[in-house]
Amino acid sequence: MKSIILAGGSGTRLYPVTKVVNKHLLPIYNKPMIYYPLSLVMLLRIREVLLVVNPQDLESFKKLLGDGSQLGMSIEYAIQEKPRGLAEGLILGEKFINGDKVFYLLGDNIFFGHDLPKIMKEAMKEVQERGGAYVFGYYVKDPERFGVVEFDEKGNVISLEEKPKKPRSNYAVVGAYFYDEEVVEIAKRVKPSKRGELEITSVNEEYLKRGKLRVKILGRGFAWFDAGTHDSFLEAGEFVETIEKKTGLMIGCIEEIAYRNGWIDREQLIKLAKTMSKTEYGKYLMRIAEE
Ligand code: DAU
Repeated sequence: MKSIILAGGSGTRLYPVTKVVNKHLLPIYNKPMIYYPLSLVMLLRIREVLLVVNPQDLESFKKLLGDGSQLGMSIEYAIQEKPRGLAEGLILGEKFINGDKVFYLLGDNIFFGHDLPKIMKEAMKEVQERGGAYVFGYYVKDPERFGVVEFDEKGNVISLEEKPKKPRSNYAVVGAYFYDEEVVEIAKRVKPSKRGELEITSVNEEYLKRGKLRVKILGRGFAWFDAGTHDSFLEAGEFVETIEKKTGLMIGCIEEIAYRNGWIDREQLIKLAKTMSKTEYGKYLMRIAEE
């Protein structure tokens, strides 16, 4: 399985903050936002990643993450000329996906939960073995902001809707999707929605129509943030700060995960730590190396 992380878009909901800086490069507490989705990919031991970025931000992303070799992985980039919608990232990634299955992630979504890697690994296994699509629902108070999933009394999915004015449930579909090899062809057939975007919800609807969509609810014990507004952005940062200070462990620390995955050795971890030795981040990496 490969992974694509979407880090383009216009970020207008965070204006004026994102007028000149890409949202995904802004800090969520002590690290750039993009580290969080990237760390989730790494926790699933997926080593090949494609980042979809805006033309004007390509150099910044490359400066931050390079080709991924410093983390023992491979990071490629695809340019999205205009924010035409989430489903376009799948089309842009066709060559990269190359007939494989894909873990598709939104760059502004942040997940936290003790069993998260386990649950995501189960979903990954399901799609690897049985194909189809696997997505996650999360209870929210403001479903009209999201893709919304409706269930019948037996828990079967009956509908999906993007940003409905009158939501049929309080379950948002979060920005982490597992797809089989059919997804590129499905994405290519998606027509622009009323707001002019190629919606990821249309891709999921097609899987639903084919009877190949599974939805798992992320319940109690999981925190999910779509850090795309000023409030949710701040909330996500405060959450990370609280958890990290309480546990003494970092969330979304890509160097630590690379090391624990055995993708880089101790020497490389120390080398990376030394590039930021003045910060708590660098000291944390040193601590991990000395454990
Ligand atoms: O966060 C979950 C929600 O994300 C889902 O529930 C919705 O179904 C889904 O459509 C999406 O809604 P948003 O309105 O939050 O999407 P947003 O425009 O914020 O874009 C999500 C990410 O994708 C963000 O990191 C920017 C990036 N993006 C967005 C667009 C429209 C791109 O890279 N290219 C794009 O064309």
